Amino acid sequence: MSEEIFTGLDVGTHAVRVAVGKLVPSADGGEQIHMIGAVEVASAGVSKGTITNLEDAVSSISRALEQAERITGLPLSKAWVGINGNHIISQESRGVIGVGRSDGEIRDDDVERAIEAARTVATPTNYEIIHVIPKSFTVDGQRGIKDPVGMNGIRLEVDAIIIQGLGSQIKNLTKSVYRTGLDIEDLVFSILATSEAVVSDRQKELGVCVVNIGASTTNMVVYEEGDALHTSVLPIGSDHITSDIAIGLRTSIDVAEQVKLHHATALPSEVAKKEEIHLGELGAPEDEVVGRRFVADITEARVQEIFEHVDRELQKIDRSGMLPAGVVLTGGGSKLAGMLEAAKTTLRLPVSLGTPIGITSVIDRANDPSMSTAIGLVLWGYHIRGSSNGNKFGDLFGKLGDMDKISSGLKKLFKSIKP
Ligand SMILES: Nc1ncnc2c1ncn2[C@@H]1O[C@H](COP(=O)(O)OP(=O)(O)OP(=O)(O)O)[C@@H](O)[C@H]1O
Ligand SMILES: [Mg+2]
Repeated sequence: MSEEIFTGLDVGTHAVRVAVGKLVPSADGGEQIHMIGAVEVASAGVSKGTITNLEDAVSSISRALEQAERITGLPLSKAWVGINGNHIISQESRGVIGVGRSDGEIRDDDVERAIEAARTVATPTNYEIIHVIPKSFTVDGQRGIKDPVGMNGIRLEVDAIIIQGLGSQIKNLTKSVYRTGLDIEDLVFSILATSEAVVSDRQKELGVCVVNIGASTTNMVVYEEGDALHTSVLPIGSDHITSDIAIGLRTSIDVAEQVKLHHATALPSEVAKKEEIHLGELGAPEDEVVGRRFVADITEARVQEIFEHVDRELQKIDRSGMLPAGVVLTGGGSKLAGMLEAAKTTLRLPVSLGTPIGITSVIDRANDPSMSTAIGLVLWGYHIRGSSNGNKFGDLFGKLGDMDKISSGLKKLFKSIKP
């Protein structure tokens, strides 16, 4: 039997990351993903989560792939690719169909037709559908059905979330990946992949919010009863903290970034008034001395703004302060000192740091919150494969309630771009 390998590619504003997982037997006689590679290279040509310079993006993706191939000793020919950015929107939709069989028994193809019907929402011009996520079904007016296959009825309805992105942005991303010679298994909305890595099925069942604080965006998704309930891409990330520090200290972005990484905290109350930061030690041309408390005040203000945004999204779905499994923070921005405490205060919820679960690894980097999207893409690929091997809808609505099928529209788009 040939080895089964899953590759995840996360093209971020700050870094391009590649994670490679191998399917291995698990202790309980089943199978599980063992991470055999996790690499990160600085990205170029990516801004606010989207490609702004094709050549630069291609070369940073190529470098990341080469490193991953060297580390794993494997040729990597295809990957699950994350897509992110302010252009991504999510919309509720409903698909309604008449059940096909004359005896009224609902079958897989009825469910497929209902999902297909949900796709035909009014898509804004130039947008492409990335995912159709079925949330629940209604059979002859009876709502809240998770898996209608085998039930009887005349009218089948599905409530779904439609995730769409700007066609041009999708094309730029797929083009840059194809130019490196890599094939795309599918594009996956980043935060959905991230969640595969950092929250358990049980947390998704209870009600949990995953927040990925990246460089220029903060992504979030709320799960309840196992399904994605709400997603959002907020236009503020950790780089905004850096630029606030640069402005506040009248220093360069590079120095401000060093200040943030080594001295910033979201909790000013924990900083003694007399603590000082010497900018000269952090690359500034002159050795200016600034108060650490001042930096903490600047940081706290922006961090609070991020979590107030998150709370506003929770209010939209009536879950503000009301998620039994709380909030899981991940992404590079979540590594800032005091972040968890700040989130707890603003969101009035239990908050924890999300690092990949459900995998084995000997690589230190696999536990870094910055890697969670790339690793999540590996797990997404593994789960999709599981669901296509077995009973398609059984898996789709069981373990992977939020998982959609590979979007056929995107497949067509890929074909038209492929060299
Ligand atoms: N230890 C740390 N403390 C504070 N901030 C950190 C730390 N490590 C990384 N960051 C910040 O996290 C951000 C990068 O996060 P991440 O790597 O998740 O972003 P990205 O995926 O490249 O970007 P995006 O998802 O927005 O496209 C940067 O702003 C960086 O300064
Ligand atoms: Mg990211």
